[in-house]
Order: sequence, then structure tokens, then C-alpha cells
Amino acid sequence: MAKVLVTGAAGFIGSHTTDLLLAGGHTVLGLDNFRSGHRRNLAAALRSAAFRLVEADVAEPGVMAKHVADFRPEAIIHLAALVSVQESISDPALNRRLNVTATQLVADAAVAHGVKRIVFASSAAIYGDTTDLLIREETAKQPISPYGEAKLSSEGILLGLAAAGGLTVRCHRYFNVFGPRQDPASPYSGVISIFERRYREGRGVTIFGDGSQTRDFISVHDVARVNVIAATKSGLVAGAANICTGRATSLREVVGIFAQHYPKVPAPQYAAARAGDIVHSLGRPERAQAELGFTAQVPVADGLAELIRSV
Ligand code: UD1
Repeated sequence: MAKVLVTGAAGFIGSHTTDLLLAGGHTVLGLDNFRSGHRRNLAAALRSAAFRLVEADVAEPGVMAKHVADFRPEAIIHLAALVSVQESISDPALNRRLNVTATQLVADAAVAHGVKRIVFASSAAIYGDTTDLLIREETAKQPISPYGEAKLSSEGILLGLAAAGGLTVRCHRYFNVFGPRQDPASPYSGVISIFERRYREGRGVTIFGDGSQTRDFISVHDVARVNVIAATKSGLVAGAANICTGRATSLREVVGIFAQHYPKVPAPQYAAARAGDIVHSLGRPERAQAELGFTAQVPVADGLAELIRSV
């Protein structure tokens, strides 16, 4: 059993990852500044004697160093981030602090205290404006937002350090993650979180474009599972991999599934496609299978049914 430090533990992905680590018998120290995370996400975890939660800003110098020195984790799962692409555009300095400086501080603390492994929340946003219909890890990296650029920089910081020796880094390029605890508050929140709330409240949804656009939607439960694998499985080598299903689902299909669960909710309205919207985003999942032994298991329809039941 391992000691794992999770940054961003109270967030959407962080709280599910924490839950799964605890279920596996690991000991977890969670750090969160509660900027986008919520203590309520950790209601179950907080009942465990193997979990401790500290309010802390990992971008603040000295914070990571102190907690790593005190807790002595075998692995750090670094999920704390400025999660909004839109906010990275409106406040690029904050994006740099939370999405790059924080990564450097995590890396420095790991090196200083002999932490052997870092798992990092990267993003398909690093590929940006690609013409590849099936995104491979080798696909050109052309981020189109400060957010995507920061995630790519952070990968560079961590993988450069891993190449220099002594540290195993796994960068997880998450595609469109969905599931319970995702915050639907902003119009730019994940589409499934927005749709779930609107259907539950009996309001119809708006589809931007004709609904034929597709995404590689992956359940947060699969994402938590791969985070735990990357943090705890022995014999892994450093690298970056897409965390995706390899299956494309259109927005029309998503709406079709919601409509089955909520037959009385009005049909969706259609509006102009969003400026800069990507039509298709689909990842190749083979590298995560080869390097981590991970294959996504939750079909979108099952994940949506679970999400609807969970609220
Ligand atoms: C993701 C990011 C987005 C970023 C983009 C490019 C998330 C949640 N979003 O967008 O911030 O700019 O990558 O890196 O990570 N849609 C609707 N109705 C709605 C909401 C959304 O039709 O009410 C559509 C969108 O126009 C889009 C699709 O749903 O076509 C998916 O949207 P979203 O969940 O924001 O994901 P991405 O487009 O992949």
C-alpha cells in the first residue's frame, strides 16, 4: 500500500481519484485551495482514517515542499489547476501561476524529497487545432489557448526531469471527462454536466451547431482508475498517453440518451455553432493500454445513466 499526495483532491477528478485510492487501501493526503473544488466532494473520503485534507495553494512557494517533507509520499498525483480554458484566456497570468508554476513547485518538491513518481493531469487541449481525425500522441501539438500551452509546458517540465533520471512521470492527456461532481456552473463547463442539470430541471438544452459534432467522452471513474494505476503500479516507465476511449459520440446521441431518461423534457433547440468549436475530437487509446494496461470500460450510455442516478 502506498502513500499518495493528491493536489486538487476536492475537485471533480481529484475527489474520485481520492475515493478510489482509499478503496484500494492507500493512504492519501489531499491538498486543495477550494477555488474550484468543494469539500462536499470528499464527504465519503473524510470519514476514512487513511485520509487527511489540507486547505493549501500548491502554487504558493514552500507549500508543496512542506507537505511533501512531512508526508513523504511515494507518489504525487498533480491535478490542481486552473480548469477553465476561458479563464486562461481572460487571465493568462493566473493560468501561468496555477498551471505552470505550480507544476514546477511539485517537481521541485518531488526531487528534494525523493518522491519516485508524479502523475500529471494533462489535456487533449495540447493538440489544439489539429487536422488529425484520430489523435495519436505523436500528433502535432498546436495549442490554441493559454490553458493548452500551459499543460504542454508542464509536460515538458516533468518529462524533462524524468529523462534526467530518478523520477517516473506519467502525463495523462484527458479527453472529454464526464460524470458525477462535474460543475455545470459556467456556459463553458463540460457539455454533459450542463445537459444533465438542464434535463433534471425539466428545461430543454441548446445544441450549438447541428449536433453531429463528436467527442471522445470518458467516464471520470475510468479516469480515476488510470490515475491510481499510474500512481501505484510497479514497473512503469515515464511517458505521456491519451486517456480516452477511442469511441466517438455525437451530441445528438448524448441528447438521445438523456431524452430516454427524461421523456417529458422539451426537445433541444439549435443555435449557431460556437466560434472556434472543433467538429470532431477522438483519441487513440492504444498507448495507455500498452504502457499502463488501461482500457476505458464505461460506455457513455452507462456513464450517463449512473450520472443521472447519482444526483
Ligand atoms: C473543450 C473545453 C473548452 C475548450 C475546448 C478546446 C471543456 C469542458 N471544454 O471543449 O473549454 O475551449 O476544449 O480546447 O473542457 N455544447 C452545446 N451546448 C452546450 C454546451 C456545449 O452544444 O450547452 C457543445 C459545444 O459547442 C461543443 C460540444 O458541446 O461542440 C462539447 O463542448 P465542451 O463540453 O465544452 O467540450 P469541448 O468542445 O471539447
